[in-house]
Amino acid sequence: MSMAAYDLTETIPARPKLLSVEDAKALDVRRMKELFSAHLNPGQVHFLKLLGFDKIKVESARGMHYITDDGRRILDFFGGFGSVAFGHNHPRILAARKRFADENRHEICMAFMSQYAAALAHNLAQIAPGDLDMVFLGSSGSEAMEAAIKVAEQAQGPTRSKVIYAANAFHGKTKGTLSITDSVLYQQQFALVDNRVKVPFGDLNAIRSAIESDPSIGIVVLETIQGGGGIIEAPASFWQGLRALCDKHGVLWVADEVQCGLGRTGRFFAFEEFGVIPDVTALAKSLGGSKSAMAAMIARREVYMKAYGKPKTALIHGPATFGGIGEACISAIEGLNILYEEDLIGNAEREGAHLIKRLKDIKARHPTLIKDVRGKGFMVGVEFNDFSETLPFGLKHMVALLDDKLKGSLCGFVGALLLKDYDTLVAFTEYNRNVIRLEPPLVATRADVDRFCDAFDDLLSRGVARIVTDYLRKVAVK
Ligand SMILES: Cc1ncc(COP(=O)(O)O)c(C=O)c1O
Repeated sequence: MSMAAYDLTETIPARPKLLSVEDAKALDVRRMKELFSAHLNPGQVHFLKLLGFDKIKVESARGMHYITDDGRRILDFFGGFGSVAFGHNHPRILAARKRFADENRHEICMAFMSQYAAALAHNLAQIAPGDLDMVFLGSSGSEAMEAAIKVAEQAQGPTRSKVIYAANAFHGKTKGTLSITDSVLYQQQFALVDNRVKVPFGDLNAIRSAIESDPSIGIVVLETIQGGGGIIEAPASFWQGLRALCDKHGVLWVADEVQCGLGRTGRFFAFEEFGVIPDVTALAKSLGGSKSAMAAMIARREVYMKAYGKPKTALIHGPATFGGIGEACISAIEGLNILYEEDLIGNAEREGAHLIKRLKDIKARHPTLIKDVRGKGFMVGVEFNDFSETLPFGLKHMVALLDDKLKGSLCGFVGALLLKDYDTLVAFTEYNRNVIRLEPPLVATRADVDRFCDAFDDLLSRGVARIVTDYLRKVAVK
């Protein structure tokens, strides 16, 4: 189309009608829903409606709670899929950010070295075991995982670039990570990177036979605990066997710690539990102090130097424009110090064990509802029995009218009623609709854990028929 087709004076208004920051703060739920539907994601609004989450306007957030415009204090056991480790608006992180702003520190540092990026990389290298010393900074988990896959591929070279990944893996939605994210829904008809082999998660024999039969396999990528898969763990013997197998065949092991890392399981990295060290790992989510977008890929020095260690190769991947952005770096630096000074890792281990113990007691009281309780620290899954076959006929019919996502699964009903009746928020799970995920901030106290468990127990005591009718009455028809 030629430019002559447009009268630019007509199509570009003199001044677009923009909302101000104050206008944004003042938007009510009705208008937010309109704007979400018009400009962000209409389908997402549909899911929020199903759960009754579309009626909430959060005005502020502090520690374990969201505070709504009508004064409700919602206990956050969702934790942004692991991005709220420090709680909402941790005062030390707010103070560090304020000092940084008051001193007019610079954010963007592409031309000169950034003292903030340098210090953050130093801290991560100090924390990471072995010679996991070389850091790439980015802004999202997908970006860190892309960097992880690329550094491994670049180090291995083109003849060993095939990647082993796991069934039910979630590593991100960018094209490279999507290729090893095991979801038909997310992968759709996209053209994926096809040099990959899928194995069952935690199956060492499957990995061994894949590696032994295909010399082009040079990389294994695994979440240390599968989050989207429904909080799935593999035993220490698997990880130790994997390390030995990779060493024997010169295969690089990439550990995705985006969700399970940063202290959530009671260790800084979940893999530390098993006494083995991967070749490459990735962090994101809470790394920015639960206040900013910050992600890191950390590689063993030898691997990194082979990939990007020379002037000729230094710029192949990175630096990323926002990877070393000032305020995000200092939020991360302050966050890492808080993690140790406030013993948040120890807290996750102790209070996580208490959470799991209480949930197992609740399971014992509601054996027809709960199938399994599993996880480590503050990365916990509760799996419900599929109840689609056991519902009374009338209710089965009503439930069948609901969206596909809710059929047969108690999670949606339980999550919706926990919010509606107990001001408590939980998360759902990508690939297993019968699992709710509990990933509270690492600052959660015994009282927070008990409050959550009391609410959960009380709700389950209603029994399945009443949970479904309460949902239909209180959430679905509103
Ligand atoms: C294990 C894992 N890897 C990677 C990602 C991608 O992170 P992001 O959404 O920040 O791109 C996620 C996000 O949930 C994740 O859980």
